[in-house]
Amino acid sequence: MTHSPSVMNDSFARRVQEWYDGNARDLPWRRGGVSPWAVLVSEVMLQQTPVARVIPTWESWRQRWPRPAALAADSPGEAVRAWGRLGYPRRALRLHQAATAIVDGHGGEVPASYLDLLSLPGIGGYTAAAVATFGFGTRHAVLDTNVRRVYARVFDGVADARTAAPSRAELAVALERVPLTEPAHYSVAVMELGAVVCAARAPRCDSCPVASDCAWLAKGAPPAPSARRPQVFAGTDRQVRGRLLSVLRESPADVIVKPDLDVVWEDPDQRERALAALIADGLVVDLGDNRYRLPS
Ligand code: ADE
Repeated sequence: MTHSPSVMNDSFARRVQEWYDGNARDLPWRRGGVSPWAVLVSEVMLQQTPVARVIPTWESWRQRWPRPAALAADSPGEAVRAWGRLGYPRRALRLHQAATAIVDGHGGEVPASYLDLLSLPGIGGYTAAAVATFGFGTRHAVLDTNVRRVYARVFDGVADARTAAPSRAELAVALERVPLTEPAHYSVAVMELGAVVCAARAPRCDSCPVASDCAWLAKGAPPAPSARRPQVFAGTDRQVRGRLLSVLRESPADVIVKPDLDVVWEDPDQRERALAALIADGLVVDLGDNRYRLPS
């Protein structure tokens, strides 16, 4: 069957939204009454981190720092401590910086405009579009890896997006796909479809509401030329940094001495390199005399 592009667009949006209404996961940041600030925190936490791991940390941040001013009034070290084991802990520092910028530049309220969001420290194009859409209900191209994969398959007939980041052209085409009415409903629905049905490795095409119009499925679902390999973690500097930081995070004392850090990893070169990286990133402060603490 052939469709004019706009007819296909309308029916794509309608079917994905109907599917979402009957099948979406009940995730806490999608419920009513969630502030734009809580949405922003959720989007930063969800980068590269599975939903199940994010939920408890997001809930505790929401209780503790319900507004940007509350987080800005606390120390960056407290943000790192409360990041727990989510990984990529520089995100905690960036959220603290964003909270400070919101207090200093926007009267303590998360700005609604995409460009103002984009100018906050640590907020990139995806996150700015997601917060404008899910926090304020405005219409933007919300293109995460899941949405890009859905579009690549349904409309382009390829297994995945071809580039690491979306081009301007891809963003422009994606924006045209967002309906004028209920843009947030549409955007979260496509994202959910990509997360739970149009999965990277084992897509569940039997359950897909747009399978009959999927260009990739029509071609027999050819695999991507080179599947991305999952990132290894064990033995990496990232793992060592995580262990060092957990000593500082979990200690009741503010100041930690070097021997308490040294026990977490055998290889001294790798240990020193990891510690130096944490200090360079501002996640750990070197007090001298082999004493360290989280940033205050
Ligand atoms: N809902 C809104 N944004 C989301 C995201 N990034 N991941 C999962 N669910 C979401």
